[in-house]
Parts: sequence; structure tokens; C-alpha cells
Amino acid sequence: MNTYLVTGGAGFIGSNFVKYVLKKHPNTHLVILDNLTYAGNLGTIKDDLTNPKVTFIKGNISNPRVVKEIFEKHPIDFVVNFAAESHVDRSIENPQLFLKTNILGTQNLLDTAKKSWTTGKDESGYPIYRKGVKFLQVSTDEVYGSLGETGYFTETTPLDPRSPYSASKAAADMIVTAYAETYKMPVNITRCSNNYGPYHFPEKLIPLIIKNILEKKKLPVYGDGSNVRDWLYVEDHCKAIDSVLLHGRTGEVYNIGGHNEKKNIDIVKIIITTIKRLMEENPGYKSALKENNDSQQDNLEWITDDYLITFVKDRLGHDHRYAIDPTKITNELGWYPETKFEDGIVKTIRWYLENQDWVEKVTSGNYRKYYRQMYGNR
Ligand code: NAD
Ligand code: DAU
Repeated sequence: MNTYLVTGGAGFIGSNFVKYVLKKHPNTHLVILDNLTYAGNLGTIKDDLTNPKVTFIKGNISNPRVVKEIFEKHPIDFVVNFAAESHVDRSIENPQLFLKTNILGTQNLLDTAKKSWTTGKDESGYPIYRKGVKFLQVSTDEVYGSLGETGYFTETTPLDPRSPYSASKAAADMIVTAYAETYKMPVNITRCSNNYGPYHFPEKLIPLIIKNILEKKKLPVYGDGSNVRDWLYVEDHCKAIDSVLLHGRTGEVYNIGGHNEKKNIDIVKIIITTIKRLMEENPGYKSALKENNDSQQDNLEWITDDYLITFVKDRLGHDHRYAIDPTKITNELGWYPETKFEDGIVKTIRWYLENQDWVEKVTSGNYRKYYRQMYGNR
């Protein structure tokens, strides 16, 4: 029975990974370390926490004492490091927090894992590690920078981060590589494109657009909406991480992508059309609309591109296009993005329509203040 330390397990991808692993490997013991920032919510994993094989610890990945205690108490085999400050717009406002969490937090986890997993030294002085252990760093395609209209990121594309967020993730990748080279630590790095799916915090494009439609608010599209992202259903990402952890070649980087490039403006239009269609097919979904007066519920005519979309000031340093070439993980591990976008986006929108209580809980704190600062009173 493997014991995983899953950091950031109360966030979007981390919580989906917790659910995925518990289903796929029911004998696994999961230790979740999360300091529950605005993006981490215990409600997201409340059912998983009733599982006796799951231990939750509220704490900071940058805190040496907290992480050391975890390694002393639990026989950790795998570290899967999701914990991070993850939103590019917030990194533009407050870069330092991103450097502290994403770089120093990763280094602290690596250092503690190294000490705990070391069983001796070889004749050259390199540590010898307990058999079967691995540190997996969850990274992002943003470390490769921005693409023009053509081409793809491969694992050998040079790092060229352009935002404080992506610079902090690239630095974390480099410190992981440094531990692999200097101390021969068994590591993998995965670099994934944009995820979407359940439990996505509504500061990111897809859940923010869904939330705004339900509140009959304008849909803020940065610039002219021509920026391109490569969208991957979150469960497919979790499957890829599980596969790299268990079968990936130690020391390797694996790119994970959805083969699914879309312009932002097209994503927004797809969401508008899909919400309207789902409500027409199933009028029960109209109860998710916020101004729940009768006239709004009966009449969905205002759910149109023209009425809802507004083009707003562009993000500073906005990367134009990301696109992943996932050939390596497909060839080596047989992974591919199983969920077609047409299906994944419907599943996602249905989930939000059916889980408004989750949205309300996670946005009940500082979210309104954040929204006003970012978007004004639109
Ligand atoms: P998220 O913001 O939804 O969740 C981050 C989680 O980490 C939260 O639960 C938060 O409480 C926790 N956390 C933050 N700082 C912490 C700290 N100092 N100590 C302990 N816990 C802390 O992020 P996400 O979208 O789930 O992303 C998870 C990881 O995947 C990140 O490393 C991100 O860089 C990477 N990634 C995300 C995407 C994407 O599309 N969302 C794509 C590629 C890579
Ligand atoms: O590519 C992987 C990355 O994807 C991850 O590493 C990040 O953690 C994750 O947040 C995501 O970054 P993006 O910046 O691509 O995601 P976001 O949802 O913030 O924005 C997607 C695109 O939509 C981007 O081009 C900016 C645009 N956008 C975003 C918001 C929030 C808008 O046009 N309007 C908005 O209100």
C-alpha cells in the first residue's frame, strides 16, 4: 500500500486527483497537506475526508517543521506537489507570494523528502534512497512562454516564462531538476495545459464565465479574445499524473495536453450557447439563475453573445498561445486525452448548474472584493 503526500489537495486539480486516486487505487493512503488559501476548500473534499485512509493536515508547504512532522509520522512513498499560487492575474498584483509558495515551498518539500528518503550514501557521496519513492512536481505549459500561430511545446522547448506566475513555476522546475542532478533524487516533472472541470475556482476563465451568466453579469474577455489555450478535462490530467508517478521514467519531464486549442472568445460563446440549450432542454436548471424572478426564468432571450460579452483591457504581458505536443507521454505510457471537449464542457457546465451551493460557499469570502478590484463594477 503506497502512501502519497498530496499537497494542494483541497484545490481544483489536487481535489480531483484525490478523488481519482481513491477510486483507482482504493488501498492507497493519502496525506493531504493544504493551508486552505482562498483557492483551497475543505468542502470540496469533505466526502473523501470520511475515508479512514485519508489524513488532512492544514499547513504550509514552506514550513519545515510541518513537513518534517508529516514525514516522521507517515511512511510517504510519493510526493505529488500541486500546492501553488496558481492565478496569473493575481501574480501580476502580488509576485512575491508566488515566489515564496511556488519556489521556496517546493524546495522545502524536496529537502525534507530527500532527508527522509535517504538510507545511506554511495561511494561518490550521492544519497541512496528508499526503493520506490518519487517526487512529482506538477508544472505548467506556461513555463515555455508564448507561441505564435503555429508550433507546439515539447519537453525540449527552452523555458521562457513571461509572467510572475510562470517564472515562479519555471524556477520551481529548475530546483526540482537541481535536486535530481545534485542529489540524484527520483523525480518527475509534468507540464500540463489549461484544465477545466468540476471544482474550478471561479476566478479562472471557464467557471467565471459560467458564474457571470448565471448572475446576468457581463462576460469580461481580455483584449480581442484571440488568445489561444489548449483545454484538457481535469480527470484526464489526473490520469496522466497517476501514470507518470507509477510508470514514468525517473528524471523525465512529461508534457500533458488536450489536443484542443480554442480562442478565448470561442470558449465564451460555447459556454453561452450550452447554458442556454441545457436550460431549454431541462427547465429545472433555470433555478441556478441568480435573479430568480419569474420573468427571467421564463425568458432566456437575454442569453446571447451580443448582450453578455464585453471586451476589457488586456492582461499585462498576456501570452498569446499555448499548445502542447503530448507525443512523449502517449508513446511511452499510452496516455491520451480521452474526454472530447464537446463532452467535457457539457459535463462541466452541468456540474456548475447542479452545484451552486459549492460556488456560493467558495465565493462567500474575499471573492467579491477581488472581483471588484479586477473587473470594477461591471
Ligand atoms: P488551485 O489554486 O485551485 O489550488 C491550489 C491549492 O494549493 C489550494 O488548495 C491552496 O489552498 C493550496 N496552497 C496554496 N499555497 C499553499 C501553501 N503555501 N501550502 C499549502 N497549500 C497551499 O490550483 P490548481 O488549478 O488546482 O493547480 C494545481 C497545480 O497545477 C498548481 O501547481 C498549478 O501551477 C498547476 N497547473 C494548473 C493548471 C490549471 O489549468 N489549473 C494547469 C497546469 C498546471
Ligand atoms: O496553461 C496552464 C495554466 O492555465 C495554469 O498553469 C494556470 O495555473 C491556470 O490558471 C491557467 O492559466 P491561464 O492564465 O491560461 O488561465 P485563465 O483561466 O486565467 O485564463 C484563460 C484565458 O482567458 C487567458 O488567455 C486569459 C483569458 N481571460 C481570463 C479571465 C479570468 C479572459 O479573457 N477573461 C477573464 O476574466
